[in-house]
Amino acid sequence: LFSPQRRNSAGINLSDPAVLRHLRRELDEYAGKFWQASPLVDGKRLRGEGRTVYSPYDRGAAVGQVLASGEAEIDVALQAAERACAAWCQQPVVKRAACLQTAADLFERNRSELLALCIREGGRTLSDALAELREAVDLCRYYAANALALFGRPQALPGPTGEDNRLGYRGRGVFVCISPWNFPLAIFVGQIAAALLAGNSVIAKPAEQTALTAMVAVRLLHRAGVPKPALQLLPGDGARIGQRLLSDPRVAGVAFTGSVETASLINRQLSLRSGSIATLIAETGGLNAMLADSSAHTEQLVRDALQSAFNSAGQRCSALRVLFLPEETCDAVIERLIGAMRLLRLGSPCDFETDVGPIIDDAALAALHAHLQRMAQVGRVLFQTPLPPVCAAGSFFPPSLVRIPGLQVLDGEVFGPILHVVSYRAGELAQVVEAINATGYGLTLGLHTRLESTMQYVANHARVGNLYVNRNMIGAVVGVQPFGGMGLSGTGPKAGGPNYLSRFAVEQTVSINT
Ligand code: SER
Repeated sequence: LFSPQRRNSAGINLSDPAVLRHLRRELDEYAGKFWQASPLVDGKRLRGEGRTVYSPYDRGAAVGQVLASGEAEIDVALQAAERACAAWCQQPVVKRAACLQTAADLFERNRSELLALCIREGGRTLSDALAELREAVDLCRYYAANALALFGRPQALPGPTGEDNRLGYRGRGVFVCISPWNFPLAIFVGQIAAALLAGNSVIAKPAEQTALTAMVAVRLLHRAGVPKPALQLLPGDGARIGQRLLSDPRVAGVAFTGSVETASLINRQLSLRSGSIATLIAETGGLNAMLADSSAHTEQLVRDALQSAFNSAGQRCSALRVLFLPEETCDAVIERLIGAMRLLRLGSPCDFETDVGPIIDDAALAALHAHLQRMAQVGRVLFQTPLPPVCAAGSFFPPSLVRIPGLQVLDGEVFGPILHVVSYRAGELAQVVEAINATGYGLTLGLHTRLESTMQYVANHARVGNLYVNRNMIGAVVGVQPFGGMGLSGTGPKAGGPNYLSRFAVEQTVSINT
């Protein structure tokens, strides 16, 4: 049932100069484009002057304008979504799946524009943008295949007394999808695809920083056949729009990806409503660790720690924040890490050679500076990759390595390129796992060891959603590494996994006395 025959989309060979030249030409077509985003409710687009959006790597480079949603648009969106959900839910699942499969094709066909948006608006590097586009495409196809398997026909159940018993699924109603800026396309599309396939109508609230990418994605979803009233877009201020939407009893479910603080707020807001009980699917952050023992291969450990901590400038919920090293190999690993950090290329993601791009905005940048200042008091800053002059144009933070005494000095997720190192005494690995569990977060954990017994111990005792052994700990692949955490890191189910869709639907048992 849960192994639909499908393949993930093909990758691109970025080491081939001809491929890069071709991509360059594609992206150059969108180098000067000025996009517009505005509320798209009940099939109508609001027009007017909006706020200008600039690239995070160049605060002088305008990318487009975003017109924020007002009270009136929120009301119309709720009315239209409520009206639309019954009709959309009644559509045969093959029809709903066909829309999302067409959307995946359209995302691929409009690759250049989507990549340009991820780079120019989201500050994503080329390889991040390509991976993100593939993930969006794969999520649509994977969830469409899952929907056909799961919702295609009701499951026949035993009828010992001669009754005909069947278990089926239907949409919950109006689903609000609230997505983050760090995956402006993949997470935005993944939430919407799941909610639509399960038979819900959707009100999408994209991150304020990446509404232009969201607007283009919604237009492609509409073009793919998703009825306009079944998918509304409300760009604008998260707190204000969220407050209004979440207090409305017509909202039957919320899919949220973002900080644990916002998830808790949403949970509280939903609990205060009367008139209906909404379901919350939240994927939040982590205080993710990588744990190495003395049997780890140093070169592999250094490469994987570097990628896990600094790819996407550390702006992934899966990213590595704390590296635990045994005392006897700690200095050697740190020395190599610093050597590797010297080689990182920082700069604009428009330059295909860039390894580490910008921080999304100045507020996030200020939080990183404040954190590092605090860490310098309780620990020691070991190294920072120097910022080249080109970084002066935007919001950049140097990849930083900080030695700290233990997890107790960290008071939550640090969303950026800061890698903390903690050393531990040989024989105290179990205590380290306990300390990681005690943070309450449980998203990703990396482990580097050659010992089967250590692998087994950590797999059995670490309370994390995704454990990665002897590899990096980012970039979960759809249908291959279902992604999501436990504890403070999320409510489950896992994105890109076989159980995700069912949480967007309600079950119905029909018993017929024949
Ligand atoms: N799914 C992403 C990753 O695995 C994080 O959101 O890196």
